[in-house]
Amino acid sequence: MLLIKTIQELQNALAKAHADGQSVGLVPTMGALHEGHLSLIKRARKENDVCVISIFVNPTQFNNAEDLEKYPRTLDADLELVNDYVDIAFAPTAEEVYRVPATEKYDFGSVEQVMEGPARPGHFNGVGIIVKRLFDWVQPTRAYFGEKDFQQVAVIKTLVRQCHLDLEIVPCPIVREASGLALSSRNKRLTEEERAISANIYRILKESLALNTTNVQEIKDFVAHELAKFDLFKLEYYEIVDGETLQPVQDLNDSDSVVGCITVWAGNVRLIDNIRYK
Ligand code: PAF
Repeated sequence: MLLIKTIQELQNALAKAHADGQSVGLVPTMGALHEGHLSLIKRARKENDVCVISIFVNPTQFNNAEDLEKYPRTLDADLELVNDYVDIAFAPTAEEVYRVPATEKYDFGSVEQVMEGPARPGHFNGVGIIVKRLFDWVQPTRAYFGEKDFQQVAVIKTLVRQCHLDLEIVPCPIVREASGLALSSRNKRLTEEERAISANIYRILKESLALNTTNVQEIKDFVAHELAKFDLFKLEYYEIVDGETLQPVQDLNDSDSVVGCITVWAGNVRLIDNIRYK
């Protein structure tokens, strides 16, 4: 595995692969890697000739300075974890990435106007900036993203369409702890007790699949009511949306693809998860 810190070195390292027509798989990450990331990396490894991971805590996608500061940074452990699977680990500094200032403005339309969009103003523009720059530098054949960030996948697919990029976005299933808690770098900030209680988020979502109703308001009320039984949780939103357009639906029968997306605060840690109704 090559550890690369600059854009120029990255492009040099990939030049031969591109010239030889080899496929390149990219897994963009912000580090603090866990089994969820590893599932993306293993898939990218299997499906491509060359496997690249980027590890960069991207400041332009944080709309909260404290969240950026507290984001876990574990580069040495990350490199050890991926060493056997990746050819190139690209871990640039913020100075390197933003030598050209971040003035790009994206408009992802309706997919960014719900849920995380209003909740985190500027977040998806920052994601768009870094992901588009990584795509330009790496020129991947395929790029791999976890479905835990369900809305992010929709935003990135929109970016690819809007910019006419010639690459495949590969969404990968959520990986969970045995308890059901979705793996997330933010879980590192939970105490043992908070972590155990947070497993109830997925339990409640799963129970909501079995309710004897297709009325979305009733399902949302059930989830809110069950979560409220735990002092630890503060529900930010639970939206049940069309799985393609991400627009809210009123009834599960309104679309062939319906996903429930949740953001819950467990103490001062913001957890997100989702579940497919159909
Ligand atoms: O999902 C993430 O970790 C980040 O949003 C991404 C896609 C690596 C961009 O910084």
